[in-house]
Amino acid sequence: MGMNVKFFDSIAEFLPDVCFERPPDAAIVLGSGWADALKADATLVRIPYADIPGLGAATVAGHTGEFWLYERAGRRIAAFCGRRHWYEGVGWEAVVFPVETLRRMGGQKLLLTNAAGGINPALKPGDFVILKDHINTVGINPMIGPVVDGWGPRFPDMTEVYTKHLRDVLHGAANRRGLRVMEGIYAFTSGPVFETPAEIRAYSHVGADVVGMSTVPESVFAHACGIQVAGLSLVSNLAAGISPRPLCHEEVLAATNGAQAVMAGLVDDFIVSC
Ligand code: HPA
Repeated sequence: MGMNVKFFDSIAEFLPDVCFERPPDAAIVLGSGWADALKADATLVRIPYADIPGLGAATVAGHTGEFWLYERAGRRIAAFCGRRHWYEGVGWEAVVFPVETLRRMGGQKLLLTNAAGGINPALKPGDFVILKDHINTVGINPMIGPVVDGWGPRFPDMTEVYTKHLRDVLHGAANRRGLRVMEGIYAFTSGPVFETPAEIRAYSHVGADVVGMSTVPESVFAHACGIQVAGLSLVSNLAAGISPRPLCHEEVLAATNGAQAVMAGLVDDFIVSC
């Protein structure tokens, strides 16, 4: 058990030297429906995941599956457009590759975006939630395995996974757009099945505000490695049993379509002001 470190070595060898010439000022992972959120002044590198050895193409609709290194307002940004998920059954390496790539590039700040189901009754589709903390309902995480140099201690502290300063940056970006956003707790489920209404009631009782199938593996890994993390969910649907109809990925993507301009603005504001 444990991740295969050679997987990351071959990615680092594959990426062009410019990726390692200076650390990126920030990195971003674009989740479902967030694919069009980047505003680049200049693009230095653009590589389809399918071309990166061992990684394979992003398989989920709404995920472009490309690595970008770009410049914006004098800053250098690493962007992972689309993610691989635990439920794809390809192991943790592909899931955490954005974080490990960022770590090897020397980056210190990471914004993880996703689409999530709304559990808190105050939430409706189209709302944004700044992650304050999470609940891992899956019971496993990418740190299981031998201790690896650079990946933090045997027992990483998880008291403040989502850095206060970066949460404040996201609040600032939202305020400038007149958006009302709450901070919330994200419940991570393995997927690919959506939750049952009974599960959603249970997650609600233990304090979850939103639910989704991503983000937590990356945030746990990044925080263990000492990278500052921010998480931003777009509520794409009401969670199972709260929604009056069965859930489907098309509904998730339709909600993100309506919010493209705001998503791009928030991401851009974050990477310029973090
Ligand atoms: N549940 C889990 N993951 C999700 C949901 C949901 O309702 N919406 C978007 N991602």
